[in-house]
Amino acid sequence: MLPRATCEVDLDAVATNVEVLRTYARGAALLAVVKADGYGHGLLPTARAALSGGADWLGTALLQEAVALRQAGISAPILTWLWSPQDEHLTDCVRTAIDVTASAGWQLEALTAAAHASGVRARVQLKVDTGLGRNGASPAQWPALVEQAAALERAGTIRVTGVWSHFALADAPGSATNAAQLRAFDDALAVAAAAGLTPEVRHIANSAATLAAPAAHHDLVRPGIAIYGVSPGGELGPPERYGLRAAMALRARLALVKRVPGGQGVSYGHEYVTPDETTLGLVPLGYADGIPRAAGGRGPVLAAGRVRRIAGRVCMDQFVLDLGDDPAREGDEVVLFGSAARGEPTAEDWAGATGTIGYEIITRLGPRIHRAWVGAGA
Ligand SMILES: Cc1ncc(COP(=O)(O)O)c(C=O)c1O
Repeated sequence: MLPRATCEVDLDAVATNVEVLRTYARGAALLAVVKADGYGHGLLPTARAALSGGADWLGTALLQEAVALRQAGISAPILTWLWSPQDEHLTDCVRTAIDVTASAGWQLEALTAAAHASGVRARVQLKVDTGLGRNGASPAQWPALVEQAAALERAGTIRVTGVWSHFALADAPGSATNAAQLRAFDDALAVAAAAGLTPEVRHIANSAATLAAPAAHHDLVRPGIAIYGVSPGGELGPPERYGLRAAMALRARLALVKRVPGGQGVSYGHEYVTPDETTLGLVPLGYADGIPRAAGGRGPVLAAGRVRRIAGRVCMDQFVLDLGDDPAREGDEVVLFGSAARGEPTAEDWAGATGTIGYEIITRLGPRIHRAWVGAGA
């Protein structure tokens, strides 16, 4: 049975992209970020493909994502970084040697309790806010956090395995903000060293900095979006510029094809009206599947041999294409986004058309869409 719509993930592309990124990393270790279900590509298949491409570490935002990797038998080092008090996965993280990030004193206290509960020394990475203004200890809080961590390390409760931070404007590699963040990171590392901490990895570089800011690489780089072959956006330009290729393709099969006269209003609100007699093709994907409603009139779709813009509004489950006089039948495949090399629209094209970023396009697809993995390890 042919599915209504398929999100196809090319695991070879993920592995090859990691290989490419390793050449940019030039000796720094590589942590592949697989949070948010591998940016929508599937947590476990993506993690395994990234490891086969040479990733040294895996990274997740949520503790439960990191635990899922361990439960699947992945033994590689894992870092996780976003949690609230009473996170039920903390003890499992500590017990299975997952590196947990601490940005605040209460987190070191919770890690201490988890270490005692599990009888295992907790692996902890400290996060400093060098200017993003999001997670991480502020420069004012940093010396106290470092002292608290150093005391716990001396007591044998935790081991501080890393110190890290995150950029605010990595997609503008020459910005003064990045330079200021790098200086603040150096200051934070000096405070940690003075307190006797000897982290194995110091890191701040996401995809954009991995590709375009070698001075930010330190011991480890932390690319996410680039391992999926999607551009970080901003000044970075298309992924092909770096030898990266898109891993995800979203395809659907026309559910209905019909001739209509000129002057036919199409979809809710009749925002599109056929100029002449034409063929309409119905695509069975809508905003409930993660197709942005903002793509009405704008979203590019390869159908019947040409890239066309969506005709009228995107509905909950479907939208319409004006196929002109080109031959088309129910069941024909259309491509929403995939590979630029195959002449298909890309996630970057969809981001540009809908006023968002490639990250949102690939991570928002819903569970009704059939997922298929191809390539080694599928
Ligand atoms: C802490 C952290 N590190 C690294 C990344 C990877 O960023 P990117 O996908 O831009 O490479 C993210 C993603 O937002 C992140 O939150």
